[in-house]
Amino acid sequence: MDELRTKYLDAIAAAADEAALEELRVQAVGKKGEVSLKMRELGKMTPEERQVAGPALNALKNEINSALAAKKVALADAALDARLATEWLDVTLPARNRRVGTIHPISQVTEEVTAIFADMGFAVAEGPQIETDWYNFDALNIPGHHPARAEMDTFYTHRAEGDERPPHVLRTHTSPVQIRSMEKTGAPIRIICPGRVYRADYDQTHTPMFHQVEGLALGKDISMANLKWVLEEFFSAFFGTDVKTRFRASHFPFTEPSAEVDIQCSWEGGTVKVGEGDDWLEVLGSGMVHPNVLKAGGIDPDEYQGFAFGMGIDRLAMLKYGIPDLRAFFDSDLRWLRHYGFASLDQPTLHGGLNR
Ligand code: PHE
Repeated sequence: MDELRTKYLDAIAAAADEAALEELRVQAVGKKGEVSLKMRELGKMTPEERQVAGPALNALKNEINSALAAKKVALADAALDARLATEWLDVTLPARNRRVGTIHPISQVTEEVTAIFADMGFAVAEGPQIETDWYNFDALNIPGHHPARAEMDTFYTHRAEGDERPPHVLRTHTSPVQIRSMEKTGAPIRIICPGRVYRADYDQTHTPMFHQVEGLALGKDISMANLKWVLEEFFSAFFGTDVKTRFRASHFPFTEPSAEVDIQCSWEGGTVKVGEGDDWLEVLGSGMVHPNVLKAGGIDPDEYQGFAFGMGIDRLAMLKYGIPDLRAFFDSDLRWLRHYGFASLDQPTLHGGLNR
């Protein structure tokens, strides 16, 4: 019996896995196991022998069973330890960096422009980018034969064959929003309209889609002097420095008189600096709204008058943030966007400062 005990307890201690353990259980205490067979022999013994051998065999059986159970637990623990060791994860490591998107310079500058004009009492108005030929041209005092139509490099949409109505256009400027806003709210009115405009043109300073912001202020006694003050105020706030302006007589069909406005700049060292030097850079068109335009917008020109202006947002962004090529604005090159883009929480406000 001592031999059996040593044989099985040693084998159990050495078992490598649960399968080996099960095999040992069958060999020792299974139905035809060595210990079980021995127990069957009890019947052939004398009562005296049985009294000694019975309890001893029972004790051996119990001992083997508990050794089996203990080894089973030990094997499971070891397996768990091994798994924990290979699946180890350091939850205290810092998280992986995530790429954060940036605000496009056009969006940023649009917000800056809006903040400055909002401070001067201008609301934001919008209009469609696919415009009727009436809003884009006729209502703005540009009749069908007018050379301005040809000059604008307009994108036309198609009409079905036999449909004689004039085709819609991709708006060539934000000026049609003047008319739509007059129709909507009448006078007095003070609005800006930032948005996309389209012209068939492509080089370092022109893209077929670009951005303008229109301004319109109508009242009983709004004059050219108000226009000049508003624009000077705007440029100084936008560039964060006093910027001299130069008004040059010009012509637009929708304003009379009309002026193109230049801002003071220097080209020293090959880069342009606004608010310094004695060069000039053209940045916008403006004037007093033409009586025909007021009429087209349903406003009585004998009662109301005012100014309008339109300027390029992309041009402003290039000047303020030193971005040399306009085409890169719309290439969606991530490296460019990361370099020139703005932090998403860097919302432009007048009190926060527009010139960081
Ligand atoms: N719409 C003109 C342009 O695109 C700009 C402008 C707007 C001029 C308002 C005068 C008044 O060039």
